[in-house]
Amino acid sequence: MNKILVTGGAGYIGSHTVVELMNSWYEVVIVDNFSNSNPGSIDGIERIIGRRPVLVEADCSDYSQMHELFKKHSDIAGVIHFAALKAVGESVEKPLEYYRNNILSIINLLSLLREFGGKHFVFSSSCTVYGQPDVLPVTEQSPLKPAMSPYGNTKKVGEDIIRDTVLASANISAIALRYFNPIGAHPSSEIGELPLGKPDNLVPFITQTAAGIRPKLQIFGNDYNSPDGTAIRDYFHVVDLAKAHVLALDRLFKGSNKSNFEVFNVGAGQGVTVLEIVKAFEKVSGKKLNYEIVGRRAGDIEKVWADTSLAEKELGWKVKSSLEDALLTAWNWEKKVRGI
Ligand code: UFG
Repeated sequence: MNKILVTGGAGYIGSHTVVELMNSWYEVVIVDNFSNSNPGSIDGIERIIGRRPVLVEADCSDYSQMHELFKKHSDIAGVIHFAALKAVGESVEKPLEYYRNNILSIINLLSLLREFGGKHFVFSSSCTVYGQPDVLPVTEQSPLKPAMSPYGNTKKVGEDIIRDTVLASANISAIALRYFNPIGAHPSSEIGELPLGKPDNLVPFITQTAAGIRPKLQIFGNDYNSPDGTAIRDYFHVVDLAKAHVLALDRLFKGSNKSNFEVFNVGAGQGVTVLEIVKAFEKVSGKKLNYEIVGRRAGDIEKVWADTSLAEKELGWKVKSSLEDALLTAWNWEKKVRGI
């Protein structure tokens, strides 16, 4: 019983995790509706590991489609749930779409795990649940703050639904990983982040600007309380994040989890400013980046970085790649995609 359903497995973090799972001992079934991902990533996964994961094209928020999938793969032992809408700004415009998609998906997957006897659930949560923390770095015990957006609230409510469900279902155990800011791409440049349209996130915007697709990067605010005035985040390599999922799943399979619902921060544990990212990118790419400082972006917090000692102690996980490595792989991927 080693079959894992990876929802959103064609997406950015999902595809990197599928590679690590298949390189470990797991058999993978991907479910994706390609609403914000690309079937090409399945080819990339195959080129990296020499085997192709099983792919089901379906929508996790559609119970009957998911029921069909579980009927066909009734030996699914666990789920890693990535599939979600994730644009913070869009979620403010379309809250019902975000709640319907992100929340129904969780409810469907937990219901089907219960019905078909699957036991393990790993959830993509986010440091967004901490809001602007009063004390840094944030630990898993830091207080949760009211979400700044419907998207952020789907992560908070998602954790609540999972916690309540596993407490009532002795057979299911779950781990929520609270991601900080994953960046970079697989070192092979076969898979990476490929945002549809204008990127929301900093690093894809930087690489697209360096590739000449965007005229300039706008840096949102230089009046924050930080060494250079720009906001601070905890950036880390997506391959390290992918490995955290394998360790979380291993922990559930081994039964070494200490409760039915556990939460871990996953980040580098270091705060870096936007301008430091720009400088590090210029150094590794050898490209001068065109940028301007503009006003703050609505809903942004000033600074956040993780205390990752719990993940280190319990999962044996810690970042291995440097910020520079991560930025270089992001740039190599962008160059490959654009044929530069
Ligand atoms: N930034 C810019 N210019 C850009 C894009 C981003 O200056 O074009 C800045 C942001 O203002 C922020 C930093 O770069 O200070 C990082 O921004 P990202 O959008 O890359 O990441 P965020 O930390 O804002 O967002 C991430 C996830 C969200 C999640 C949020 C929770 O991408 O899904 O963390 O804090 F909701």
